Amino acid sequence: MVTRIIIYFRLEGKVAVITGAASGIGEAAAKLFSKYGAKLVIADIQNDLAQKVCRDLDPSSTTFVQCDVTKEEDLENVVDIVVSKYGKLDIMYNNAGIMGAVKSNILDNEKSDFEKVISINLVGTFLGIKQAARVMIPRGEGSIITTGSVSSLIGGVCTHAYTSSKHGVLGLTRNAAVDLGRYGIRVNCVSPYAVLTASAIDTLKKMGKEGSDVYSTLKGAALTPNDVAETAVFLASDESKYVSGQNFIVDGGFTIENPGLSMFK
Ligand SMILES: NC(=O)c1ccc[n+]([C@@H]2O[C@H](COP(=O)([O-])OP(=O)(O)OC[C@H]3O[C@@H](n4cnc5c(N)ncnc54)[C@H](O)[C@@H]3O)[C@@H](O)[C@H]2O)c1
Repeated sequence: MVTRIIIYFRLEGKVAVITGAASGIGEAAAKLFSKYGAKLVIADIQNDLAQKVCRDLDPSSTTFVQCDVTKEEDLENVVDIVVSKYGKLDIMYNNAGIMGAVKSNILDNEKSDFEKVISINLVGTFLGIKQAARVMIPRGEGSIITTGSVSSLIGGVCTHAYTSSKHGVLGLTRNAAVDLGRYGIRVNCVSPYAVLTASAIDTLKKMGKEGSDVYSTLKGAALTPNDVAETAVFLASDESKYVSGQNFIVDGGFTIENPGLSMFK
């Protein structure tokens, strides 16, 4: 019984921002953070969807703020609202991201498409970390989470822009962990494999693949948005108080096997 109560309130008393929480993994994280007791601000560009997520959660502890993560003033505004409403910011989960246009041949890739993906996935994460650090540094604590992908580690799974952006997010996470570690702030990355959210299914289709093409080393297990959100909860909570600068790969072992030369097939 005692154990049950401790698990349920893993984020009790914490104040969190989740970017891109109107749908997919961010939405799952919003539900889980709220369930575990966090006060929450959802920052997204999709007003209607984000407001619906807020309504479905406890409206007294969940707020939506319109925010485009490519705009520093938007993230500055989000953080200012959080601090004026709740007095502090404990957790910044930089989840907003896009796959971008799916064109496998580099000759077909437009500079503007490439820059758009980098702008949201990498520059948006940089701005989120920076604005969170502004209010976390004076308090000398906080947990910042970034969103990578298996494409933060390996090539060939997604587009040039996406892979570049996610490698960049991992580098930024490590640099920020060293910088902000001096103030007691932890920075970690969560790197999911293919989660069959609406946008991922759409991307797979454009790549000529489907959900059943996604394989891992784990028989019978399928990755859900909630699995990724659970990892984020761990990194947001005090359970991970000595964990910083790490890349948490939620991929069922996909990146540790070379299936072309496996003795277990
Ligand atoms: N789904 C997957 O297979 C997968 C795998 C690895 C990593 N990821 C990463 O997980 C994160 C969430 O992906 P998802 O699959 O849940 O996608 P999703 O499209 O369901 O959710 C992304 C959210 O980000 C928001 N967003 C997009 N641009 C924004 C901007 N400029 N400012 C603010 N919000 C913005 C969208 O409105 C949306 O609510 C992304 O960073 C993605 O790269 C996803």
